Amino acid sequence: MSSSTGAEAPLLDVRNLQTHFRTPDGVNRAVDGLSFHVNAGETVAIVGESGCGKSVTSMSILRLIPEPPGKIAGEILFQGKDLLKLSDKEMRAIRGNDVSMIFQEPMTSLNPVLTVGRQIGETLRLHQGLSGAQAEAKSIEMLKLVGIPAPERRVREYPHQLSGGMRQRVMIAMALACNPKLLIADEPTTALDVTIQAQILDLMRDLKHRVGAAIVLITHDLGVVAEVAERVIVMYAGRKVEEAPVRELFSDPKHPYTQGLLGAVPKLGSSLTGEETRLAEIPGLVPSLKTRIDGCVFAGRCPKVTDLCRAVAPALEPKAPRHTAACHYAEKELMAA
Ligand SMILES: Nc1ncnc2c1ncn2[C@@H]1O[C@H](COP(=O)(O)OP(=O)(O)O)[C@@H](O)[C@H]1O
Ligand SMILES: [Mg+2]
Repeated sequence: MSSSTGAEAPLLDVRNLQTHFRTPDGVNRAVDGLSFHVNAGETVAIVGESGCGKSVTSMSILRLIPEPPGKIAGEILFQGKDLLKLSDKEMRAIRGNDVSMIFQEPMTSLNPVLTVGRQIGETLRLHQGLSGAQAEAKSIEMLKLVGIPAPERRVREYPHQLSGGMRQRVMIAMALACNPKLLIADEPTTALDVTIQAQILDLMRDLKHRVGAAIVLITHDLGVVAEVAERVIVMYAGRKVEEAPVRELFSDPKHPYTQGLLGAVPKLGSSLTGEETRLAEIPGLVPSLKTRIDGCVFAGRCPKVTDLCRAVAPALEPKAPRHTAACHYAEKELMAA
């Protein structure tokens, strides 16, 4: 959307994000000039192979990157306020309140010595000033919302007493307890088996309608993207190489990297019935993020590479309405000026 139309400002507006890590053998440019936005209530998926900077992006938004060795630059505007300029205290007030996050591995994010009710209640007491009893009642309500049976009993249990799927539901309950405006879900189903994955996804879809939070969904699973996301951002080597509305990305991917990832794509709308819907394998490796790449970051693996690609980095430019890609050879549709 162009801002000149008077459309509302996006909920989250990430501008030229650079998250670099100092390592003994050079600077790792994990995220290198990434810009994207998320509108209120919208679900945006971020896809790309392992090591492309997806988790670092989500951790950067919440300022959970250890500094040092990390260093974040750019702007992360949330409701117009640059999160990178907030004090630690202001940032804590946003985390787990306006913005919350679901991590890939629930066991490492849940505290093993606190009951489920205590953990959900903690955020409520902290951010909403509820009493112990009120927090427990609300925790039970949240467990019900995420489909945990016998919530009155579960609320008193410890994480190890729950199955992996239930723990992930508890994580979601925690993340939603404060009615966040933005939920960042980093591969929320990767550690779970396929049946449970499908259940968690149904849950997320359902919650999206009921809670109305915007979601940034990071996943390897294109079936999930097809089902849940409205817009997709494709990341490669710390950069955005393509962005499009979900249907358009699946039907007309412009970047050779996206085309590679979509190699064995399920049809849009095919439900998660256990069939393999993961990203396709692309021959070759993601380039080291520690060496500066002059040309296109995908040149080393691209089936269509030319000398131009090796020498000059293609700019991210519109190829169709609301569809951008960074490739010298991606076809450009005729667009009204
Ligand atoms: N704490 C850290 N110190 C140094 N490098 C890191 C750190 N965290 C992540 N990285 C590097 O950042 C790059 C992107 O990682 P990540 O965002 O986890 O990828 P993805 O989530 O897309 O699989 C990788 O090269 C990874 O090694
Ligand atoms: Mg990751």
